[in-house]
This record gives sequence, structure tokens and C-alpha cells, in this order.
Amino acid sequence: MKKIGVWLIGALGSISVTVILGSLLLKKGMSHSTGMVTETEPFKRLDLVPFEAMEFGGCDIRSGKLYETANQIAQKMAGIDTSLVRAVGAELAQIEKNIHPGTSFNCGEAIGLLSAVSVESGKSLREEIDEVACQLNTFRCSNGLDEVVVVNLASTEPLLELKDYHHDVKALEHCIDNNSRDSLRASAIYAYAAILSNCPYINFTPSNGALFPALVQLAQRNGVPVMGNDGKTGETLVKSALAPMFKSRNLEILSWEGFNILGNMDGQILDCEENRQSKIRTKDAVLGKILGYTPHSQVHINYVPSLGDRKTAWDFIHFQGFLGTKMSLQFVWEGYDSALAAPLVLDLVRFAELAHRRGEAGLMPHLASYFKDPIGVDEQRLHEQFQMLIKYVEEARKAPKA
Ligand SMILES: NC(=O)c1ccc[n+]([C@@H]2O[C@H](COP(=O)([O-])OP(=O)(O)OC[C@H]3O[C@@H](n4cnc5c(N)ncnc54)[C@H](O)[C@@H]3O)[C@@H](O)[C@H]2O)c1
Repeated sequence: MKKIGVWLIGALGSISVTVILGSLLLKKGMSHSTGMVTETEPFKRLDLVPFEAMEFGGCDIRSGKLYETANQIAQKMAGIDTSLVRAVGAELAQIEKNIHPGTSFNCGEAIGLLSAVSVESGKSLREEIDEVACQLNTFRCSNGLDEVVVVNLASTEPLLELKDYHHDVKALEHCIDNNSRDSLRASAIYAYAAILSNCPYINFTPSNGALFPALVQLAQRNGVPVMGNDGKTGETLVKSALAPMFKSRNLEILSWEGFNILGNMDGQILDCEENRQSKIRTKDAVLGKILGYTPHSQVHINYVPSLGDRKTAWDFIHFQGFLGTKMSLQFVWEGYDSALAAPLVLDLVRFAELAHRRGEAGLMPHLASYFKDPIGVDEQRLHEQFQMLIKYVEEARKAPKA
């Protein structure tokens, strides 16, 4: 059996640890895979990486113990008994050896405060990239891995203003060689190193600096599949399912206001204005593309520490029907963020590995349903996005590649 490495950027964060814990429990048959799309028909019939073949590693800018973080997660989430964490304690200790210090290069103040090491490492951009590539290579060689998939699960960075050189590989490489330090954030250093190391790369975060056009071009050129941005797990998932209903009944949405409260570290980082703007941007893109017009809409995200990983979204939709009659719909979504995100990350790893094995390169548009802001895809309606995935699977089954 082939061995597939999963390299998690932000390896000690809530989603990463839930991914690791979940897959260890699934490997031992001690939990169930609800939430994973690839465990259902017709995806089950594809030749996808089994849990037994996955090895985990990654990096983080904080120091911490994987076992303790897994225990904290289990205590907070209903459904995981802490005895289950004890049952995989030895495996967690083993994986911890594969977790290395990350870089917080040009990540802004809020993320810098998390970091155990100085924000300014003094290394050049090229040296930062080489160090990540070296970590990936060590992970691959010391674990005898056939493939490594890299997933960005680090904190949301402040928006990066994209310039001409973010649209052209040559110009970007020129910036890197000239050590133009404002041109990249940490997430791009990881992406660049992953692509050069022939590792498929997924950006699950809203950070726009993590996967911009020049990086997509590089991936295309190097035969590496990539996709992002921002996992679609909660409020936006519901939005992309509900908004088409209003459109198909010719009900005019006047306003769609979303209020989100959450209390985990993600929420703490999003409490900082410059980081929050990245998230609001990806959440905001959905409605206009589905409806063909832009109703009044604001997304609010507030940090409420006592809630921990339990996110609540209250959405108020004000709409107009026949003869101008005004009506409204409200919904409340309450979810454990990491329990919603982790199964999607495992699905994405499987699809990215499959795409690489099939010789695909550049963007993976068939994965649009997994993202709030699927790069290169205009389709935002959930059902239609899911059909794109089904179509891809049918083609992959008809024409399997080595
Ligand atoms: N949970 C969801 O439903 C969901 C949905 C979509 C997107 N996301 C995004 O996924 C990401 C992870 O979410 P989370 O809840 O696990 O957050 P978290 O705060 O629990 O974990 C983030 C981890 O990243 C680490 N980190 C920060 N900057 C880093 C860097 N430059 N290099 C390496 N490590 C770094 C932090 O130390 C932390 O351990 C966030 O960007 C979040 O916005 C989450």
C-alpha cells in the first residue's frame, strides 16, 4: 500500500488536531466518518487513499502538545470521549515528532502574538522557502512516503494587496530573489515551497495571499494540483443552498444580514480588523454571484470567548414577493467548527492525491463545493457545484489513470 503524507500548516490548531484525531480513530474503527463526502456513494467506488495509508506531520508557530490539545478538543466537543484520545495517545506522540516550527513571516500583529519565536527571523525569502522545502523533504524521506499533500490550516492572515507580480511567475520569482519582503506572507512561502516540492496544495483558509494567480501558474507549470480558498462549513454553506431557492421562485432578496459569534482561537484572530476583512471578503462573494444582483448584506463576526469552538450564526433574510409584499426568513446555525471542517479536509486530501495521480495540474474546479471562494469558478450554487464533483467522479471512473 502507498503511504501518503498529510502536511498540516497550523498543525496544533483546532481543525488540524481534529483531522489527526479523527483519522486515527477511523483507522482503528473507533469512530464513524459522518461528514465525509468521500465515504458516500458514488465517491466510495473511487480508488481513494484509505485512512491506514495516511501519515501526518506539519508545522506551527506555537509550541504545544498534540495529546493535550486533542484532549481539550475532546472535552469541548460532545461526541468524543477523552478515553478515545487515550486510545491513540501513542500515535499522537509519534506524530508530534513530525511537527516543526513554522514561519510567521509578514503575518501581521495578531498572528505575531501567537508565535513562540520572533516574528522577524532575519532570514531572506529564499531561505524561508528553502527551509519549508527541506521540512517537507525530511517528512517524505524519513517516513518513506510516496506523496505529500499540504493543507493550509493556519490562522487567517490580513488581506494582501495583490500587485502585477502576483499575476506572473517570472515577476514573482524576481521579487523573491530580490528579497522583496512585502510581496509575500507566510502562507505564500508555504504554497511556493509545496509546489516546488511537487506536493498538491490546498488553502482551507480565507487568506488571499495563500494562493494567487502566479502560484496557480507555477502549479500548472510544475504539474501540481492546487485549490482554495476558505472551507465552506457553516453559514456560507447554508447561504449557497438557500439563495438559489429565492432566485428560482423570483422572490427578491432585499437584505441578507449575517451575525456570527465564536470563541476559539480562530475567532480571537478574526477579532482583529485587518484579519477579519479577509474572512468577510470570501463570505461576501457568494450572494451577488447567485442572485445576479447585490442585495444589502453585511456579515458580522464577533469573538465571544465563552463559546469556544461552538459557532453560532444568525441570518436574517428580508425578501419581497408578489405585489411588493415584504416577508422574512431567519435561521440559526449552531455548529462545532472543527467537527464541520475536519471531514472536509480529509476529503480534500483524498481528492488532491487522486488528481495528482491522474496527472492533473493547476486548479481543481470540481472541488468548488468545498470552498466559500472557489478560485477560478463562478458557480456558487451548492447543488450545481456538487454536480461538478459528481461529473468529475464519473469521468475519473471511466478513465482511471495510474
Ligand atoms: N473551522 C471552520 O469551520 C473553518 C472554515 C473555513 C476556514 N477556516 C479557517 O481555517 C483556519 C484554521 O482554523 P482553526 O479553527 O483550526 O484555527 P486555530 O486558531 O485553532 O488554528 C490555527 C493554527 O495555526 C497556527 N498558525 C498561525 N499562523 C501560522 C503560520 N504562519 N505558520 C504555521 N502555523 C501558524 C496557530 O498557531 C494555530 O495553532 C483559519 O484560517 C480559519 O479561518 C475554518
